[in-house]
Amino acid sequence: PPVSIIGAPTDIGAGDRGARLGPEALRIAGLGEALVARGIDVVDRGNLDGPRNPWLAPVDGYRHLAEVVEWNRLAMEAVGAELRAGRMPILLGGDHCLGLGSITAVARHCRDAGKQLRVLWLDAHADFNTHEVTPSGNVHGMPVACLCGMGPRELTHLGGDAPAIDPAVIRQIGIRSVDEGEKRLVKEYGLDVYDMRYIDEVGMRAAMEEALDGIDDNTHLHVSFDVDFLDPSVAPGVGTTVPGGPNYREASLVMEMIADTGRMGSLDIMELNPILDANNATALVAVDLVESLFGKSTLMRD
Ligand code: ARG
Ligand code: MN
Ligand code: MN
Ligand code: MN
Repeated sequence: PPVSIIGAPTDIGAGDRGARLGPEALRIAGLGEALVARGIDVVDRGNLDGPRNPWLAPVDGYRHLAEVVEWNRLAMEAVGAELRAGRMPILLGGDHCLGLGSITAVARHCRDAGKQLRVLWLDAHADFNTHEVTPSGNVHGMPVACLCGMGPRELTHLGGDAPAIDPAVIRQIGIRSVDEGEKRLVKEYGLDVYDMRYIDEVGMRAAMEEALDGIDDNTHLHVSFDVDFLDPSVAPGVGTTVPGGPNYREASLVMEMIADTGRMGSLDIMELNPILDANNATALVAVDLVESLFGKSTLMRD
């Protein structure tokens, strides 16, 4: 399908400033051109224009809650508009709190269109904190919890009803940093987590086969790609690096296996922080992996 690029230049939910530059870094790394070169119809809608980051301490366990709500409302509306127009939205973060607005719109679209939703959350983190257990107050550690109905009403009910999604539709891949209280909640909600220990034991191919199992012609696959999913040796340009992530080869396989399903209907590219990078190298890696998501094989198979 035709693709629409939407920039969300904010670090409102993050603990470091700089993810607000993510959309430009990805554009400069040639994201649009790379998709055009694959024969895809691409329109760049430019950037959303939300509140600035006041850079304040948390209040009641949340930093910048009002601004987070506003950015997510903008993201939800922009993503929803593209889906209604029959286009595939690519939301460029910005920090990962925006996954809430994006996926809320995708879930609504699936309900309206009678589609089965599957969310692949590629991340070092589960992002399943609440204001009670968060160690930081940063809302980029909370979007999955909010999507599952846990969090402040303004966020859980962003799309009208809560929960926006059933936890059973989520597959989390690459996880290797989960806070103590967060871990309890992940277990309680029964999230399907393919953590690095599991990936080490069974291999990325088997893990992805499981994560993609049950996808059919009626499935809308949403990919929420937090760039810190990647090992920091591959992708240093993110605020919350965690060692021990997928290497370049494993990440390519993930993307190629997703492409093989042919069911990806929407994509987030989140947490890229070019301030922490050198020569825009992390954005270049991200663009390369997105090419694989859109069917470019690293091998001689096509
Ligand atoms: N678990 C930590 C927290 O809640 C880090 C979250 C990082 N999330 C992210 N999307 N990078 O503060
Ligand atoms: Mn994340
Ligand atoms: Mn992360
Ligand atoms: Mn390339």
